[in-house]
Amino acid sequence: MNIFVTGAGGGLGTALVPALVAAGHRLTALARNPAALPVLPGLTGLCGDLLTPATYATALAGHDAVLHLAALTHARTASLYRRGNVDVTADLLAACAGHCPDARFLCVSTRAVGQACGDYGQSKAEAEQLVRTSGLPWVILRPAEVYGVGRGEAVHALARACAKGGALPMPGRGRHVLAPVHIADLIPAFLAALTAPAAVGGTYVLAGDPIAYAELADAVARHCGQRLFKIPVPLGLVTLAARIACRVLRHPPIVPDQVARLLCAKDTDSTAARRDLGFAPRALDVDAMVRGS
Ligand SMILES: NC(=O)c1ccc[n+]([C@@H]2O[C@H](COP(=O)([O-])OP(=O)(O)OC[C@H]3O[C@@H](n4cnc5c(N)ncnc54)[C@H](OP(=O)(O)O)[C@@H]3O)[C@@H](O)[C@H]2O)c1
Repeated sequence: MNIFVTGAGGGLGTALVPALVAAGHRLTALARNPAALPVLPGLTGLCGDLLTPATYATALAGHDAVLHLAALTHARTASLYRRGNVDVTADLLAACAGHCPDARFLCVSTRAVGQACGDYGQSKAEAEQLVRTSGLPWVILRPAEVYGVGRGEAVHALARACAKGGALPMPGRGRHVLAPVHIADLIPAFLAALTAPAAVGGTYVLAGDPIAYAELADAVARHCGQRLFKIPVPLGLVTLAARIACRVLRHPPIVPDQVARLLCAKDTDSTAARRDLGFAPRALDVDAMVRGS
């Protein structure tokens, strides 16, 4: 297949692109900095920005599928999320309707959808709705917290901190539930989503086993033979620290919006993905999470 990929240079893209090429697909990868893309046979970089459709629209012609990974995941305001996730998706869908109306549109979303999950979640919910009403053949994929990529993953950072043992701040009491999923288990599901006839019009949660944040921390510490002292931090204080960090730091480690994203209730039911995409997540692999691979 000829596949047009956005966000190929991001965390998930870095792992998915070589897998798509290895599966025999030819890719056009849109990137603001194509020099950061890997050099692979079958991969053509296209210098462009989703904020400027003229940089990519005509290049969509001749593609059988569009894999839309690009997103704004850490922003300071709701309007930035809206521009980076909703408006960008609207522009991309309009360009697809004009230049590759039969191409399957794979929208990579998140389980953290809706305003309860913060402004990012709201922007992803609105982007999903645009995809559903686009008239294109679409598939929506909602991965859980991905590990095994080793690049900027929140669960990897948590695992590295727990592996050292000692004191660990716990947002709230750490009761919020994660469902970490290994990148190697996502790849076959993404490949199936490109072609499986049953997938069109489907919204798929791709989650591993649910585990509370505090339990995950304990599991990593135990695995590494360390003792962990979990220090509950009131959520109001975490939000305040994130607000201050946003004001004083150019690259804050956390934005306030992430607190809602972490705590909101999320779907962990991957039954549909198991049935239609052959999704078969492994049990939690603490070792891989610590190594980041
Ligand atoms: N990683 C996870 O655990 C996880 C979990 C659930 C859902 N997701 C979803 O999976 C997708 C990929 O996530 P990720 O972790 O790979 O994100 P990421 O590392 O932040 O990468 C995002 C990519 O999108 C590109 N991008 C953003 N705005 C763009 C624009 N205007 N024009 C062109 N490219 C643009 C970025 O390019 P630059 O490098 O130029 O900024 C980057 O390559 C996202 O939709 C995310 O919401 C991820």
